[in-house]
Amino acid sequence: MSIILAEHTMLNDPAHVRLPFDPKYNHGSAFINGTYVDLDNAAIPMADLGFTQADACYDVVSVSKGYLFRLEDHLERFESACAKFQLTNPYTKAQTTEILTNLIKQAGAKEAYVWWAVTRGFMPDGGERINPKAYENRFYAFVVPYVFIANDEQRARGIDLMVSKQFIRIPPKAVDPTAKNFHWMDLKLALFEAKAADKEWSVLCDADGYLTEAPGSNIFLIKDGALYTPDSGCLEGITRKTTLELAAQLGLPLHVERVHVEQLLNADEAFLTSTAGGIMPVNSVDDRVLGGKPGPGALTTQLHNQYWTQRWDGWLGTAVDYSSPASV
Ligand SMILES: Cc1ncc(COP(=O)(O)O)c(C=O)c1O
Repeated sequence: MSIILAEHTMLNDPAHVRLPFDPKYNHGSAFINGTYVDLDNAAIPMADLGFTQADACYDVVSVSKGYLFRLEDHLERFESACAKFQLTNPYTKAQTTEILTNLIKQAGAKEAYVWWAVTRGFMPDGGERINPKAYENRFYAFVVPYVFIANDEQRARGIDLMVSKQFIRIPPKAVDPTAKNFHWMDLKLALFEAKAADKEWSVLCDADGYLTEAPGSNIFLIKDGALYTPDSGCLEGITRKTTLELAAQLGLPLHVERVHVEQLLNADEAFLTSTAGGIMPVNSVDDRVLGGKPGPGALTTQLHNQYWTQRWDGWLGTAVDYSSPASV
C-alpha cells in the first residue's frame, strides 16, 4: 500500500477543485472585527495586543471535499482556549460558524484552511490593564486554499526529522500549550535549526527529555504494533484525537502517556499530525531510519489513507452549502 496523494486529488479531482469565485478573493477572504474583506486588503490595527504582545488565542479547522471536519470539536477547543486565557469570543458558536462558512463560500474553497482568533484588543482607556474585563476583545478570521505543511512528495517518502538540541518547548506552567496560542518562537527557531542541520522538521522535548510536539503538529510513534503519543506539554490536536480513533478502529493498543525521546529514536514508525496536512509520515529521526527501512511504515500508511478516505466520505463532516450565497 502506498500513501494517497491527497494534494494531487485536491487540485485535480472535480469533486475537490475550487468553485468559481470573485478574483479579488484569489488569495483568500477575511473578516476583521465585523467586516468582510478580501485577504489582500485585510489589516490588523497595530495597537491590538494580539499583535504587540501575542495576547490572543486561535484555532484552525479544515475543509476537504466541501466538508468542514470536526467543526464542533474545533469550536469547543477554541472556547476552552478563550476561557484559559481570560478572553471572550464576541460571537457565539453559531455566529462564529456563520462567519467562517461565509468566508469559505466567498473564496469558493472546497479545500480550505480556516483560521480564526480572538485577541485582547486595545489597551483600555484609563490604564486599567490589570482587569481582564476592561478590554474589548476582537475577532479576526481568514480562509485560504488548503495548506499542506508536508506535501505529497514529503508524505510519500517520509520526513527527515530531528530532535531539537537548542530548544525545549515552552513549559505548560509558562504558557498552557492546550490553549492554541501565538507563542511560536521556540517552534519557529527549532524549524530553522532543522534547516541548518539539513533536516526537514524538528520535534521539541521538555526539560527532562520527554517529547512534547513539533512546530504545528503533534507527534506519534509506533513500537511493536502499539501507538504512543505524549499526554502533556502539547496541544490536544484534533488530528491527534482523530488518529487515536482511527488507530482504535484498527485495534492498535494506544498509549497516551509521557514518551521519552529515546523511544522515538528506537521506534518502528513515527508520524506527525496536523489539521494542515493530516497524518505526515516520518522517515528518519536524527539520521536514524526508523524500522531500518526507508519510507512511511505500514501502519502509518494505513492510518494516513484511512484519514483521507473517511473524511472524503463525510465522516464527522459538516457539509458547506455552496448553492446559497454568503450572507455578508
Ligand atoms: C503547536 C501545535 N501542536 C499541534 C498542532 C496540531 O493540532 P491540530 O491537529 O488540531 O491541527 C498544531 C496545529 O497547528 C500546533 O500549532
